[in-house]
Amino acid sequence: MLNIKKTKLHLATAVIVGSLMGASSMSFAQTIKLSHNGDTKSPIHKALKFFADEVKEKSDGDLKVRVYPNGQLGTQRESLELLQSGALDMAKSNASELESFDPAYGAFNIPYIFRDREHFYRALESDDVGQKILRSSEKYGFVGVAYFDAGSRNFYTTKPVRTPADLKGMKIRVQPSPSAIKMMELMGASPTPLPFGELYTALQQRVVDGAENNIGAVTTYRHGEVAKYYTQDEHAMIPDVLVISATTWEKLSADNKEAVIAAGKDATAFMKTLWAEYTAEEMKKATKMGVEVLEVNKDAFINAVAPMHKEAAENPVISSYVKAIKALDK
Ligand code: GCU
Repeated sequence: MLNIKKTKLHLATAVIVGSLMGASSMSFAQTIKLSHNGDTKSPIHKALKFFADEVKEKSDGDLKVRVYPNGQLGTQRESLELLQSGALDMAKSNASELESFDPAYGAFNIPYIFRDREHFYRALESDDVGQKILRSSEKYGFVGVAYFDAGSRNFYTTKPVRTPADLKGMKIRVQPSPSAIKMMELMGASPTPLPFGELYTALQQRVVDGAENNIGAVTTYRHGEVAKYYTQDEHAMIPDVLVISATTWEKLSADNKEAVIAAGKDATAFMKTLWAEYTAEEMKKATKMGVEVLEVNKDAFINAVAPMHKEAAENPVISSYVKAIKALDK
């Protein structure tokens, strides 16, 4: 009798301990939310899904990332605000948008600061520039994880633009960023800040006469249905940036932090190849859509924004980054 009772007791204990272990290992596995404003067909969505897969693999399934595309969880600005308050875990933004949240990102937004794509990547990878900037924002409630190529930005408009003089009187949509507004004023246009998701309608309703972005805006987001001229002045190369809420970051184990950073590095490399293929394809598609690609002499555009280089060199927050970026131009 006694033995049977003991066995029952052992069994009961085993069941309780077993279920407690199960519960505790379940409570360690975490799913975090990542918001972005890109289309599911866009390379950034593919790169973020790749990132999510890598995080899962590198953390042995302990950490999962659920990706919410199309601004479902808010515009880029709203996502950043949610991140700061700890109501959202991760977001993909870009240096232009982030400048209003951490002025260090302004270093990337000086027009014509990068000579070419290689120079741009050297700056992103540099400890004194890209990597330091990723770490600069913890005091603002978020931490930078990784950069993604977003190509070079060019004007696309309803009337042809060949020189800055052509921009006079034109309303050009910009991101809500002090540098983007300043650049547009210096080039002679009227800057109109709008969230990306509102831009197609704004173009269609002639609220704005154009915008500026990589070729994907014209094709994947169909802005080329309305704006038929794409001016290749290549005024900026603004990286997309993946960021995590400081609240979420603090709660991650050291191993999961490592998994996130390593997955970010792999995703940056994945995007580098993907972006080059995408751009080549989209340029062809733009032409098929009836968008005229205008090759222009960049000198007048470069001269128009020269004051921004002078100001940046005197700006206490970004001058050291700007100097380091310029030193990598070789
Ligand atoms: C790029 C960038 C987006 C951004 C958009 C914009 O496409 O990748 O993050 O929202 O520009 O101009 O708003």
